Amino acid sequence: MTMSDTENTRGSATEGQETTAPYGSGQPRRRVRIHHLREYKRRGEAWPMLTSYDTYTARIFDRAGIPVLLVGDSAANTVYGYESSLPITVEEMLPLVRAVARSVEYALVVADLPFGSYQASPEEALHTATRFMKDGAHAVKLEGGARYAAHVEALVSAGIPVMGHLGFTPQSEHGLGGYRVQARGERARELLDDARALQEAGAFAVVLEMVSASAAKRVTEELSIPTVGIGAGPDCDGQVLVWTDMAGLDTGHAPRFVKRYAEVGETLSRAASSFAEDVRDGKFPAPEHGFE
Ligand code: KIV
Repeated sequence: MTMSDTENTRGSATEGQETTAPYGSGQPRRRVRIHHLREYKRRGEAWPMLTSYDTYTARIFDRAGIPVLLVGDSAANTVYGYESSLPITVEEMLPLVRAVARSVEYALVVADLPFGSYQASPEEALHTATRFMKDGAHAVKLEGGARYAAHVEALVSAGIPVMGHLGFTPQSEHGLGGYRVQARGERARELLDDARALQEAGAFAVVLEMVSASAAKRVTEELSIPTVGIGAGPDCDGQVLVWTDMAGLDTGHAPRFVKRYAEVGETLSRAASSFAEDVRDGKFPAPEHGFE
């Protein structure tokens, strides 16, 4: 990152001056900075975020105008085939972050800090986040609320932009509450307190995962930083989906909050079967696929 990139990413040098074309306006695009996300919120423009773990999807989503790409620790499942996000390591995440960061011209790239790489102390969080920033991330994401405010503060004061993650937090829910809607009834207050603590600590946005729509709406209204919903209703400032769910690469059961926009898994499966059939039938390669 150059100095001016760094300043702009952190929203400090040009804050309040530079504007970006409204999301999806078709006007020339500039690299998305954190202050643009705040502008989207101010203008009431909902914006999308997708996960990405490799160069092709990063390039495709970047060109499609997705302003924020998350190299999520969901890579544990989608890339590495683990059953949960717990086992994935910094060493397994870093190559994915490098691939995505190298492949975008426009999107802000957020890297998830994996389980066990930041919880112990603000110093540990700073050490890990620094590795991700050196490998091309523009920001990092970590799970947890007020308990992690000091961690967020340590990163932000070192110039590392931080996205929070509240509600259902897969890294800490194993064996505790399971996969269920958070912040219902009395619990809505806790969510708001956690979100405020993250904002005060300097987080630039907060993901709300599987949170009741009314609680997410309240948090979105109360915070000056953007919220990004996943299973959190229509009132968040942005919406995020795991790309393999969104595009139907995984043909298995998807959570209720996922909308499938394609059936990429079926398409790939049909392509692989056709290729196999052609090879068996001697139809591939044809003369036009060879050299004299
Ligand atoms: O790891 C991930 O993909 C995430 C999203 C679900 C927000 O954290």
